[in-house]
Amino acid sequence: MQTLIKNIKELVGIIENPDIILLSGEQMSKLNTIKDAYLLVEGEIIKDFGKMSEISQDLLNDSSLEIIDAKGKFVLPSFCDSHTHIVYAGSREQEFCDKIKGLSYEEIAKRGGGILNSAKLLQNTSEDDLYEQSIERVKEIISQGTGAVEIKSGYGLTPEAELKMLRVIRRIKQNFPIEVKSTFLGAHSIPLEYRQNPDEYVDIVINEMIPLVAAEDLADYIDVFCDKGFFTVEQTERILMAGIKYGLRPKIHANELDKSGGIQVGVKYNALSVDHIEYTEKEEMQALLNSETMPTILPGAAFFLNMPFAPARKMIDFGLPVAIASDYNPGSSPSGNMKLMMSFACVNYKLLPEEAINASTINGAYAMGISYITGSITKGKLANFYITKKINSYNFIPYAYGSDLIDKVFLKGIEQKC
Ligand code: NIG
Ligand code: FE
Repeated sequence: MQTLIKNIKELVGIIENPDIILLSGEQMSKLNTIKDAYLLVEGEIIKDFGKMSEISQDLLNDSSLEIIDAKGKFVLPSFCDSHTHIVYAGSREQEFCDKIKGLSYEEIAKRGGGILNSAKLLQNTSEDDLYEQSIERVKEIISQGTGAVEIKSGYGLTPEAELKMLRVIRRIKQNFPIEVKSTFLGAHSIPLEYRQNPDEYVDIVINEMIPLVAAEDLADYIDVFCDKGFFTVEQTERILMAGIKYGLRPKIHANELDKSGGIQVGVKYNALSVDHIEYTEKEEMQALLNSETMPTILPGAAFFLNMPFAPARKMIDFGLPVAIASDYNPGSSPSGNMKLMMSFACVNYKLLPEEAINASTINGAYAMGISYITGSITKGKLANFYITKKINSYNFIPYAYGSDLIDKVFLKGIEQKC
């Protein structure tokens, strides 16, 4: 089946060359667009696009085409959210109130709240119930324009519960048109019973969990929360080496709470991305330069926890690429709204709208290993895009931070009824 989107006010996020899989430094401020454009979809993919003035008459007269008139509207590639924890049970608004009253994220974690609180809930939730709770969030992010999502385990913290989470992620992969990548994050937090001997828990992650995850082929990537009060660089290295043996490429939670060495260890093991990275200075940027690791900022977490912002502006000026992800999770970022993340990135990190759009599409796709199939308007890539309501410029998208500007969402060439 073919669908033609015609009279598009501006088609945004075009990357003609399919070999471009990420944008760095100055390239990030260049956003290719065509004004008064058309976009032709065939089956799951983008077949063609161009100026309305150059469209063939045969195409316009083809009665088998489904035609959508996008007069006054913009078309953008779907968001690629490369870091989320959307499979979780319940919610943690009580901790939200504790934080308002003055407790820090680390203090809450120390007394068994935070990640451990979610782990306890999840361990006592059936796989079916967990699936039902999680797909509400999947539907929500699809309606907000996300077309690809990475989902982590890490609220199980026992072999059984970690597998339960990963099986739920697999069911989401099978049942929804959104592109899903799955990350094993057994090393998300040290359970209370191992606090006196964390290495014992690390051994369980390495010797029990990773082989089980690999045996069922449940994960694409492996993650470790390498930070003060969580996992040390040495423990991170042991876990990454074990994962790499099973073909799991690293993606790291790094430098959120301290200059933890997480960025350097990520680069050393060729991580696909290092994420959070609030505590980044020159030496970390130097380590990232010319590496294949995508620095990924999570503006929702820094906003919600009232923490320092990663120096994303400096990173881009240094020549680095930057991706934006939502970190959607019950503790530090209970939102997967990527449009809002772009607004945060513009306001708090001083990214230009062009940079924020590239960071949340092509660079996000790179950070989940799929920029060869999605993340831009490119012939042959998946037809994953959204059509806006009538607006005057793409700058309006991050500017109008509280407005829902999405009119239609297409994933794999099919309009999603959201
Ligand atoms: O990415 N930083 C570590 N993990 C999550 C938080 C998870 C939670 O608080 O439940 C994050 O922010
Ligand atoms: Fe996270």
